Amino acid sequence: MTIKVLGISCFYHDAAAALVIDGRPVAAAQEERFTRVKHDPSFPTNAILYCLEEGGIRPSDLDAVVFYDKPLLTFDRLLSSYLAVAPRGLRSWLHAMPRWLSQKLFFTRIIRQSLGTDTTVLFTKHHLAHAASAFYMSPFDNAAILTMDGVGEWATTTIGIGEGNRIRLLAELWFPDSLGLLYSALTHFCGFKVNSGEYKLMGLAPYGEPRYVDVILHELADLKEDGSLRLNMAYFTFLHTLRMTGDRFARLFGGPARTPESQITRREMDLAASIQVVTERAVLSMVRQAHRITHRRFLCLAGGVALNCVANGRVLREGPFEALWIQPAAGDAGGALGAALLGYHGYFRRARTPSNGRDRQRGSYLGPSFSRDEIAAFLNTYGYPYHDLPKDKRATTVAEFLAAGKIVAFFSGRMEYGPRALGARSILGDPRRDDTQRIMNLKIKHRESFRPFAPAVLANRVSEFFAFQGESPYMLIVAPVLEARRVQRGPAIQDDNLLTLINQRRSDIPAVTHWDYSARLQTVHPDTHPEFHEVLSAFSSLTGFPVLVNTSFNVRGEPIVCTPEDAYRCFMRTEIDALYLEGFWLLKREQPAWAEQSDWRSEFALD
Ligand SMILES: [Fe+2]
Repeated sequence: MTIKVLGISCFYHDAAAALVIDGRPVAAAQEERFTRVKHDPSFPTNAILYCLEEGGIRPSDLDAVVFYDKPLLTFDRLLSSYLAVAPRGLRSWLHAMPRWLSQKLFFTRIIRQSLGTDTTVLFTKHHLAHAASAFYMSPFDNAAILTMDGVGEWATTTIGIGEGNRIRLLAELWFPDSLGLLYSALTHFCGFKVNSGEYKLMGLAPYGEPRYVDVILHELADLKEDGSLRLNMAYFTFLHTLRMTGDRFARLFGGPARTPESQITRREMDLAASIQVVTERAVLSMVRQAHRITHRRFLCLAGGVALNCVANGRVLREGPFEALWIQPAAGDAGGALGAALLGYHGYFRRARTPSNGRDRQRGSYLGPSFSRDEIAAFLNTYGYPYHDLPKDKRATTVAEFLAAGKIVAFFSGRMEYGPRALGARSILGDPRRDDTQRIMNLKIKHRESFRPFAPAVLANRVSEFFAFQGESPYMLIVAPVLEARRVQRGPAIQDDNLLTLINQRRSDIPAVTHWDYSARLQTVHPDTHPEFHEVLSAFSSLTGFPVLVNTSFNVRGEPIVCTPEDAYRCFMRTEIDALYLEGFWLLKREQPAWAEQSDWRSEFALD
């Protein structure tokens, strides 16, 4: 009998739904892609509808719905945290509680009402859902599992073992001792948004000197050899205020937190470098501890901290494990998939299907796709001019345009599940050009100029450019650019001018080489995304470089585009030169003038 399980994550950040049928991920998507509200935490009605439609089933066909968290345990933590600091936390308590009482504690009712069916509703522990999303989707039959995030219920880090269809969690670190919260506190202090700006802090790290490492490790966090960590709560205010850090934290680092959007100074660069060093040290210690406890050969990672690609690269190169697999939706959105998989393998006790050495995530292309008929109807309805490229000309047309220094938005196949665009909803550029990074950041993404871009590279040619062998299909691993490709850059400049650093050429693929000669890789494989693979092959035939800049198809603060309408709107709002929509080719210079009622920039809150 076929078993159909729907997984849901919501109410904290990054709501998502995932449908698993007979253990196979059939559909998964974040709610933000449909509502166009970045990190939308609300009940994922749209994502659920999409999953059911993709699976061709009705709500009453579901065998179970699994929520990725145990609300009562989280309630217990909030209550205990409050009592520990009472009465100081009254404001944050009043802020959190009404939503709890109205939504989270009555989840079963909400889900049954929303679906209009009396289906079985199950709850799984938050970190177990993270662990399941990593292990069940990995190519391993037997592996250690490490999950690290801000907090889920009480846990902030767990170590476990996956064997066949069973997962056991063996060790836990508890709130408030959390590597994720420590990283988020520094993210906040450097003027970036918690739960979305962590990537910026990681991108800033190479420009700084890690001169605050000792301060962090002596004052803020006590990191032990076994990877366990204790935060000095005298410095953190998240227990009793709505902020992460307070005055004492600021005194430690010589002044108040950076105001968002103000100039980034040397202090922020050095703080970013320092917390990166601490994070890598902590993650490596936790990984070694996971090896000591489990004695397994392979490791699976999930939880928001597993999106720290620099730390992941070091785990791969220096860790004791032979191989590593990281869930691409490592943050809480991935909990929906983990919850559904736990329903299938844990509750219904079904076995896993053989992996044949490949992972089960299917390239993470688990979101909606749009047929050429649907796209043609959309373009014709609005009278947008396009060229219908013959099949054998598609890849070369895109590649020729890119080789001429143009920027192309590429819309092809099913949308990605997880925070990274992997060639289905991507903006592409020529990595060889000195001006690509600046143009893409300022004229297209409308975001901070220091933000680095990532290379997509043909999987079989990755070692020609990077000191890396193997696969990184989900852009989750940072590796060094080969020495032979590097250009000797000038000395580090000891002032605050980030731009003088950014504009220095660093390699023959400068747009994707970070200041420290590293790059965040996506290896592109013909079996998971043949069209994207063809574009890279065509670009390589033209230029000798099987590498492209690949960044997500959105502007700053906007969720990645989902539909052809979203794609066209983003194309017209930016200086993207051409839009590829499933074989339809739209040139900016041929489009009618684009006018909007109001300034679209006010539509998206800056992330
Ligand atoms: Fe989490």
